[in-house]
Order: sequence, then C-alpha cells, then structure tokens
Amino acid sequence: MSAHGTPIPMMSRKSGPLVGEANVPGDKSISHRSLILGAMAVGETRITGLLEGQDVLDTGKAMRAFGAEVEDLGGGNWRVQGVGVGGFAEPENVIDCGNSGTGVRLIMGAMATTPISATFTGDASLNSRPMARVTDPLALFGAQAVGRAGGRLPMTIVGAADPVPVRYTTPVPSAQVKSAVLLAGLNAPGQTVVIEKEATRDHTERMLAGFGAEITTEVTDEGRVITLTGQPELKPQDIIVPRDPSSAAFPVCAALITEGSDVLVPNIGLNPTRAGLFTTLRDMGADLTYENEREEGGEPVADLRARYSPDMKGIDVPTDRAASMIDEYPVLSVVAAFARGRTLMAGVKELRVKECDRIDAMVTGLQANGVQVEEGDDWYAVEGQGPGAVQGGAEVQSHLDHRIAMAFLVMGLAAQTPVRVDDGGPIATSFPIFEPLMAELGAQIERSAT
Ligand code: S3P
Repeated sequence: MSAHGTPIPMMSRKSGPLVGEANVPGDKSISHRSLILGAMAVGETRITGLLEGQDVLDTGKAMRAFGAEVEDLGGGNWRVQGVGVGGFAEPENVIDCGNSGTGVRLIMGAMATTPISATFTGDASLNSRPMARVTDPLALFGAQAVGRAGGRLPMTIVGAADPVPVRYTTPVPSAQVKSAVLLAGLNAPGQTVVIEKEATRDHTERMLAGFGAEITTEVTDEGRVITLTGQPELKPQDIIVPRDPSSAAFPVCAALITEGSDVLVPNIGLNPTRAGLFTTLRDMGADLTYENEREEGGEPVADLRARYSPDMKGIDVPTDRAASMIDEYPVLSVVAAFARGRTLMAGVKELRVKECDRIDAMVTGLQANGVQVEEGDDWYAVEGQGPGAVQGGAEVQSHLDHRIAMAFLVMGLAAQTPVRVDDGGPIATSFPIFEPLMAELGAQIERSAT
C-alpha cells in the first residue's frame, strides 16, 4: 500500500521447480544517489537502469521540487539537469518521501547547508521512523529541525545560511546517516569528516569521487575516516546503475528452498559492503555460485546461480557482517526455517527501526507459520525445521514493509500450506516487477481476497 493506496492481499503456495533467469531491477541505493548527486552537479547527468520503484520516483519528484530538471526518457533511462552544489531552490510545497528512509534522510542532508527551508513527510511507516540520527549531525552544520515528538516526520529543516564543516562519528552503523553528513558537507567550506566504526555501504563515497569531489577514506584504529573537501563543482556523469543485490536475494533464496530449482540471476553487484547475505548462504551450505565474475564501473559483479539446497545448516551469522546484509535478514530468516539446526542472527538492533520493526515482524510471522523462533533486544534465532518441513498456513502482516512482504511470499513457495500476506502493495517501493519476475520462474504467487 502506498501512502494513499488500498491494501493488496497476496498469497503464495507450494510451487514446482523455479527455473530460468531473473533479471532484477537497478540498485535502490545507487538509484537514489544518482538522482540526488545528478541534481547537485552542474549540467546533465544521464542514468541508465534506474530503479523505477516508488521510493526512487519520490526522490526524483523531490529533486524537481528543489529546482533540478528530472526527465524520464523511457526504458530505465533518465536525464537530470543539476543546479550545482548550493543551488537548490526552496520547494513550494511539502516534500513527500513516501516510504523511503533513504530518500528523506539523504535529501535532508543535501539541503541542510543551503539557506532554504523544506518540510518533509511520508507514509505511516516513514512518519514513525527516527530522524534525530540525521538531524543531530545536521545541527552541527548550523541547520535547524522542527518535527513531531521523538524526532519524527513531518519535519521542517531550516538550512544553515553560513554552514561550518563538521567532524562526526556515527553512533549507529548507518549508511544513511553517513551519507546525509557527507551530502551536507558538500556545501560547507573546508573539510567535513565522518568516522564510522563499522563499514556500511560505500556508494556515496564512490559516487562522490566519480562526480569529481575530493574524498578519501582511511582505515584507522578509530574506524573508517572519510574526509570530504567542501564546495566542489560536481561534474555530471553517465551512470549505469548495477542490479540490486537486495532484490536478487528474493529469487536466490526462493530457489534455494524450492525443490528442483535452478535460477540464474545475472549482473549482480557484489560490493563487499552489500554482499553479506550471499557469503552467509554459502556458509550455510547453499548451492550458490558466482559465474562470470568481473568488474564493472569499479564494482565487482557476477551472475548468481542458485540451486535447490536441501542440505543447508543453521549457523551463527557473524555480527560484524550485519551492516553488509542489513536488508537481507528477513529473507535469510525464511531460508533458516528450511535449514537444519539453529540460525542465530545477533547484533541486529538496527532492524527494529527499518520500514517496520523487522525482528518483531519476522518473529511473529514465522511463529504463526509453525516455525520456532527466539527473540532478544538485538538478536533473534530461528530453529530450522528442515527442507520442506515448514508448515505455513497463516496470514502475516507486512506493516508497510516491502521486504517483509516478499520474504513471506518466498516462504509460501516451499511451505506445506499457502502463506498469505495482508498487503503486498509496498513491494512496489523497491521491486515493482517482483510478481511477473517470480511468475516467469514458476512461482505461484497471486493477489487474493483475504
Ligand atoms: C541504505 C542504507 C541502509 C538500508 C537502506 C538503504 C542506503 O539503511 O537499510 O535500505 O541506501 O544508504 P541504514 O543506513 O539506516 O542502515
């Protein structure tokens, strides 16, 4: 369901072998950044393979509201005419970022050091998520934020007229926070430094360098120290967006648990800050191979081949891997339910502040479908039922969370009885072609009346 949509109940049932090629859409993180950095460059950026999910479309709309030209050229090709660093105009109306935490947090950062005000809102999920993690560091630049209790949206940011550069250690492992500070640092004089104790996805750093900013990352005892020199002229780019490993996760995991499956998922970015799920699945004994490994646009890329894997075993997922697979825990916990033994997922407190409380949503949904799960504040553990041994049969709530909806629909493909999801509408935020792509592989997923 979008902010104003009606729920779309969905159901998945035990399916025959999933076979074929799954061409998943462009990377969501890189798509947001392409539009935002394109809008902050001087001149015309061209983007190929943009994810045309609702989250990214909302960011495109926002960039228009700040004065950039954003044009859909068709077929995943987009053109952005940027206004330059510091060139944002004040939006005439409220900026609605829909369901997207990445969109709103990065845009807040991008406008916080320009002397304009903007008011942000979103859907019920986004309006319940914490924004202080971003507005606290933005205040150090001189920006002011006024929002609802608990630092929630709707919220107005008054950009700093005379921004100062900032040195900031991120208190939580979050690429969104890191990126908001770096984007704010673009229009501050001097050097802005962000220190992160654990590595999070580094697309902002890579792309800023690509757009011509002076940015370095040093690994020290303090952590990763990222230094950006402010007030560069960003040069427009031609960007080819790689395919999203977080979307690839769904057909890959579906193939691993569905008897007889053999699915190829081509051209997936395996940036080490994103590929933790695939390493974990291989550690569990999944028949998941990387074919045609190569480099594209400075990123490691491979075609993933996933085959039915009845011999997977539960493991303790290393806590230092959490940031590199933070969006993949929902679907990993579904795979864990079909493995033998216990899978412990610890150090994952951040899951509680995603599109919904993902620990709570997974624990409740798995238990309703006959899977034993234990839960603590920053961990949960799934007791594997063994291949084909998950009961299913229950309806779960997706809580406006695309990844919860997709994870449980994947579960239903191999469970003994169908699994229903109260609302599959949010899937359109990140994976608008999920239903036809899965159907093409042979998955039985349908829209259903509850
Ligand atoms: C993202 C960062 C992650 C991730 C989100 C996308 C990004 O959030 O969960 O889906 O593009 O920077 P956090 O940075 O809050 O962990």
